[in-house]
Amino acid sequence: MNADGRTRLNRTPEWSALAGHREDVGEVQLRELFAADPARGAGYTLQVGDLHIDYSKHLVTDETLRLLRELAAARDVFGLRDAMFRGEKINITEGRAVLHTALRAPAGAVVEVDGENVVPAVHAVLDRMADFAERVRSGEWAGHTGRRIRNVVNIGIGGSDLGPAMAYEVLRPYTDRELTVRFVSNVDGADLHEATRDLDPAETLFIVASKTFTTIETITNATSARSWLLDGLGGDEKAVARHFVALSTNSEKVTEFGIDTANMFEFWDWVGGRYSFDSAIGLSLMIAIGADRFREMLDGFRIVDDHFRTAPAEANAPLLLGLLGVWYGNFFDAQSHAVLPYSHYLSKFTAYLQQLDMESNGKSVDREGRPVEWQTGPVVWGTPGTNGQHAYYQLIHQGTKLVPADFIGFAEPVDELGDTLKAQHDLLMANFFAQTQALAFGKTPEEVRAEGVPEELVAHKTFRGNHPTTTILARALTPSVLGQLIALYEHKVFVQGAIWDIDSFDQWGVELGKVLAKRVEPALTEGADVPGLDASTQALVAKYRELRGR
Ligand code: F6P
Repeated sequence: MNADGRTRLNRTPEWSALAGHREDVGEVQLRELFAADPARGAGYTLQVGDLHIDYSKHLVTDETLRLLRELAAARDVFGLRDAMFRGEKINITEGRAVLHTALRAPAGAVVEVDGENVVPAVHAVLDRMADFAERVRSGEWAGHTGRRIRNVVNIGIGGSDLGPAMAYEVLRPYTDRELTVRFVSNVDGADLHEATRDLDPAETLFIVASKTFTTIETITNATSARSWLLDGLGGDEKAVARHFVALSTNSEKVTEFGIDTANMFEFWDWVGGRYSFDSAIGLSLMIAIGADRFREMLDGFRIVDDHFRTAPAEANAPLLLGLLGVWYGNFFDAQSHAVLPYSHYLSKFTAYLQQLDMESNGKSVDREGRPVEWQTGPVVWGTPGTNGQHAYYQLIHQGTKLVPADFIGFAEPVDELGDTLKAQHDLLMANFFAQTQALAFGKTPEEVRAEGVPEELVAHKTFRGNHPTTTILARALTPSVLGQLIALYEHKVFVQGAIWDIDSFDQWGVELGKVLAKRVEPALTEGADVPGLDASTQALVAKYRELRGR
């Protein structure tokens, strides 16, 4: 029993009903489900904004979906959703509201945190960002020597890097191609070196992105970038003001670093790092694509927010996708979830989702701090599909693991490609459709034999099939569609966290490594004795020092 009187997840009748149903359906076969219901292909679909979502190739029946929705109702997923949208402090371990949805609320909306409407502040920052972005794009905001800014380097890590870095790739066709935009995250000096080695400091703007402004990787890189700039511009400290801006919630630390808060774009503690990309953290993207396109993207987020908030359970896409993940993770023991975009522009999309999903739902205690007795978030992985087909798809098709997967594709190639390259799009999409077909329906031994395959190879060439996939198809990959896709996954992750009764909005698991790194560093540099260093790490540190000639 929970403190709030609710039964623990795995002791609820709805959970038992699903476990019983799993036994009943046993090794349910997609071939049989489709044979029994010719309308399934068109019927098991949803339209959300521009996203056509096909979930027909899942190991579910109407009964499964009904039981999953009953579980969601019993866990009051929609109640928690409403509390989130209302600004209640549902991030319990940090005592914070979870209001990334307010970042894309329309100007007239009212969303209160501690009795204060936060929407006017959101729009004030957006307007400042837009003004700044347009000044950089037009050349009005020049560097210290009067030269036009031609390079923008975002320095940040995790949520202060992955979102803008991903979106910059996604929306490249919408970017100002005259601008060079790069992203530095790794504390490995090679990252900053490679990002700046061919740039002219006089033409380079650094955006230091850090919610806390205490993250060691970001502050170290930003300090080195400052030296690089000053070395290149003759050491005049005044140059910093024209070449550094900050994105943060922490004005004190920004000032301490030496960036004027006039050059700081603010966000708030009710925006989680991994949910922050549509806040000021998106400034680099806004400079690249312009304020209007950025606002189109926010409109896309809002389409899915409104859908999630208002669509009934039977037609609610984030709810459905979240529940399908629960079905496989908790009742089929699936350990991972693949996201396989059939678009080169989405090459960093899965990496972005890894933080969104795994930092949110990689938890093993419930909201009251008790060990969970059920599986929580999956390992999320994947790269653009056609490349994956020639690498790891073998394991998905014929390995021993169940890997539910999302396939994301677009009807139209981007215009900029020109006729020859656009003509390749049908081939790309033929692969997209063929893969989900092969995964779902496989190839029986009879079909293999009918092709004249010698008997000793039949087993090797048989595809078991029955691998579940969701297909997400849109006309084109626009800024709005990107916003829609991200919001869809944000809310899917929310649904799963609500079902699993975990706090999806903290990330204590990343703390220990950070603390230990600070303790270990003096051992590497000075050979200092670090109390409590275990024998294995001690030996490794000694080896490291030997290899470095220390
Ligand atoms: O270490 C994890 C983390 O706290 C993420 O949650 C966050 O996105 C990232 O570090 C960067 O934090 P910040 O924006 O405060 O530099």
